[in-house]
This record gives sequence, structure tokens and C-alpha cells, in this order.
Amino acid sequence: MTIETQLPAEGNVGGHVFDVDSRTGFMPPKPPIPRLPAMWEDWESMLDLAIAAKLKCGDQVGLTPEDAANSETWRAQARKMPVLPVNSALTSCPILLRRAHLVLTFLLHFYVQTLPIDAPILIPRSISIPVLRVSQQLDIPPLLTFSDTVLYNWEFKSPPITPDAGEEAPALDNLRSQALFSGLVDEEEFYLCSARIELRGVEALELMRQTMDEMFVGDEIAVRRISGYLQTMVGVINELKTLLLDVRKQCDPERYYSLVRPWFRGQDSDLKKRKWVFEGVKEEEDLVEPTELSGPSAGQSSIVHVLDVFLGVDHQSKTPDKPSFMSRMLTYMPRNHRLFLKHLSANPRPLRPFVVSTQDQELLECYNKAVLALKEFRDAHMIIATLYIIGPARRAARALAAKDAEIDSGHEPTPPGKDREPLKGTGGTDLVKFLKDTRNRTGATMIPSST
Ligand code: HEM
Repeated sequence: MTIETQLPAEGNVGGHVFDVDSRTGFMPPKPPIPRLPAMWEDWESMLDLAIAAKLKCGDQVGLTPEDAANSETWRAQARKMPVLPVNSALTSCPILLRRAHLVLTFLLHFYVQTLPIDAPILIPRSISIPVLRVSQQLDIPPLLTFSDTVLYNWEFKSPPITPDAGEEAPALDNLRSQALFSGLVDEEEFYLCSARIELRGVEALELMRQTMDEMFVGDEIAVRRISGYLQTMVGVINELKTLLLDVRKQCDPERYYSLVRPWFRGQDSDLKKRKWVFEGVKEEEDLVEPTELSGPSAGQSSIVHVLDVFLGVDHQSKTPDKPSFMSRMLTYMPRNHRLFLKHLSANPRPLRPFVVSTQDQELLECYNKAVLALKEFRDAHMIIATLYIIGPARRAARALAAKDAEIDSGHEPTPPGKDREPLKGTGGTDLVKFLKDTRNRTGATMIPSST
């Protein structure tokens, strides 16, 4: 078997069939279209209106009656919108479909998250029917995903001026986001941090391809070359970690926690455990009620999954009937990226057993360094999660407890963390336990030198 059958090359890391580009990886090679054709203008203009109205989440601290009225005015207009067609002009064009998913899921989250905190969640037909149809076509869940906020939500800050404009990967500092909920730079930087990691990760994809090529040969020279590729990969993963930590430069943790993150909540992180009811779904024969409704998480980023698969990190659930968060996140990725990962996982010559079988000390050390770099990426990720979620959540709980105590001074306030539910990630995980687990599983992948 040639490498092409394992990881199609042809100047394209994963081949066109997988939508993985040799310059931009899982990001599309050109900026995604910024607007749908006129037939779907109502969706686009509702999104423009929502952004211009600076809508606020229904549970935002300090929400005024005017804010609440402002969002009800927008929601009333959204309910009146006609149910626009998801016809063959749309379904035959993946570029249009992706933009439609982005626009509709932004509308969906604007609608749901601006509702008063105790109102039932009834998504109007004008949004529910098209978002279900478009998602069905794309084979992803009908809510905001990482691909809507990051992969298909960018443009150039300034048009590239090189003669090869359009042929090169965008410079990491020349990106901006197309759509934002809050309009804040903090939100944009949160998305762009992931976009930069996707772009920088392309080199890792190429190193994987070369490694797999050499594993096919498998002789002594190949082993030396693989050691070299793994050493280069350590540098790339370290840079991904730096890019992750750089999110602190322009994304403020408190603003992220209180003004950005609430927009991402899916059904499974709803504070009141409300069900999302998609109006009209029962009447349409071709549609089914959605079951996967977790908010967007960079856990849906294919680049991190690819590194795990390549290095052999096992994220499988220990309970057979319950799929792990990591495998559940596959269903939120663009279908072709999911297929690419499946393809890689099915590789008949995985790297880790190969390294063990060679009993080559240098190769083993290089492999372990690459795994260690990924573990350190996850250490950094835990620092970020603590800074952006755990810390602000504790402070918010303390403030709430103090307020309760003020109102009802006869009662002792509940200390933060005590008798409270564990903190949930946007993907609905018990985030502290989960992130420690993925980090520990990565560390445990290293090969002891006596093996
Ligand atoms: C402010 C920035 C970030 C915060 C606060 C954050 C927070 C979280 C949280 C809470 C989870 C738990 C899963 C969930 O329920 O959603 C998670 C998972 C994950 N995040 Fe992030 N994240 C951030 C940035 C990133 C970036 C830039 C990446 C890389 C592209 C990334 C990659 C992942 C991955 C791969 C997972 C799955 C768990 C794992 O592999 O360890 N995150 N993140």
C-alpha cells in the first residue's frame, strides 16, 4: 500500500476529498463567502440587525428593561421572517451551505440566549426549519459549531499584496472574524487564537505525512528520518502552545466569561436545563428532532484530534455504551474532516507500536518528546481554562453568595464550590475532571524506556 492510500498527498495533505489543504489545513484555502445570494437575504439582514442592535444575553448582569425590550423587538422580527427555501441552489453548493449554517446558527443562538432566563425555548419555524435542513445536508448538529465560529468565519484584515496573493496561507496576524455576537475584540481574539493554531498546525500535518511515508519503508534510514520529523514536530507543538497562551494578550478573562461565553451555550449547558424545542420539526417528514446539542468547543478542532490519533493518545470511553466527549465531538466537525480522522485512525501501521518495535533509543526519545509537547500543550490549556472559566466562575459565585446574604441576612451564604454542581464546559463536560483526564491520558502515552 502506498502512502497515498493512507494519507493522500498530491500537494494536498489530505487530498481534496477530505477538504484538507496543504497551506491552510482544515481552514478553507480562500476566505469563506461573506454573504449569501439575494434569495436568502432575509437571514443575512436579520443577522446584521442582531449585530447592530448589540443584543444582550437574557441573564447578563445589569440587564435593563430597555435591553430586554430591544431583544424582544428583534426576536419578534425573527419570528415574522418567512421560512426561506433550502433548495437545490443551496444544497448543491458546499460553500453556500457552510455560510447558511453560520448565519442560521448565529441567529439561533441570538434568539435562544436573549430569551428571558425563565422563558421556554421555542425556536421559531423561520429559523428552526432551515437550520435543521441545512444541518442535515452538512451532516452536523443544528447549532453553533467550531466550524461556524472559526473555520468558516474569517477574512483578511488587509488584502494580501504579494504577487501570489490568494495562493499563500494567510499570515497569522492578517485575520479577522466575519461574525461576532458581542462585537468585542475579546470575542474575535478568542476565535482567531484557534484559527492561528489551525494554520500553524499545517506543518504538523505535513510531518505526519512524511513520517507515514517513511514508516512504510521502515529501514534504518527511515527510522533516522522519522526521528528528525518528530523533533521538528516538538517545535511545532510548542508553537501551538505559545499561540494558545497568547490569547491572554487581547482577550480579557472576565469579559470573555460574562459577555462572550454565554452566547455559546447549547441545550446541555442551559442554566435552567430547558429543552430546545424546534418549532415545526414534528410536521416535516424529512426532519428528525436533534439529539446532539452541545455548544461550540475547540474540542471540535480537528488539528488536536489529528495529533492525538497520530501519536496514539487513547481517548476512548471506559464505559462501552457511553461515547467519550472526544468521539462525540467528531460529529460536530465538518463531515470530510471527520472522514479524514477516521481514515487516519484506521491506519494499519500506527506510529506508537512502530516505535516500540524498532527498539531504537533515539526514535523512542524523539517520540516521547513529541508526546510530552502535546501533554504540555494540555497543561497550558488547563491554565487557560482556569484563567477564563474556573476563576471568573468562582468570583461570580462569591458575588452572588454575598448578594444573597445581603438580601437575606438570616442565612449563611453557600461558599463557592460547596454543594454546587461541577463547573460545565461549553461542550457540557465536568470540565476540571475532563481536562485533567485528557492531559493525563496524553502523558500516559509516553513509552517507558524499558519497553
Ligand atoms: C480562552 C480559550 C479557551 C478556553 C477557555 C477553553 C476551554 C475549554 C474547556 C472548558 C474545554 C472542556 C470541554 C468542553 O466542555 O467544552 C475545552 C476542551 C478542549 N479545548 Fe479548549 N479552551 C480554549 C481554547 C482552546 C484552543 C485555542 C484550542 C485549540 C485549538 C483548544 C482545544 C481544546 C480541545 C482539543 C479540547 C478537548 C479536550 C482536550 O483535548 O484536552 N481550546 N476547552
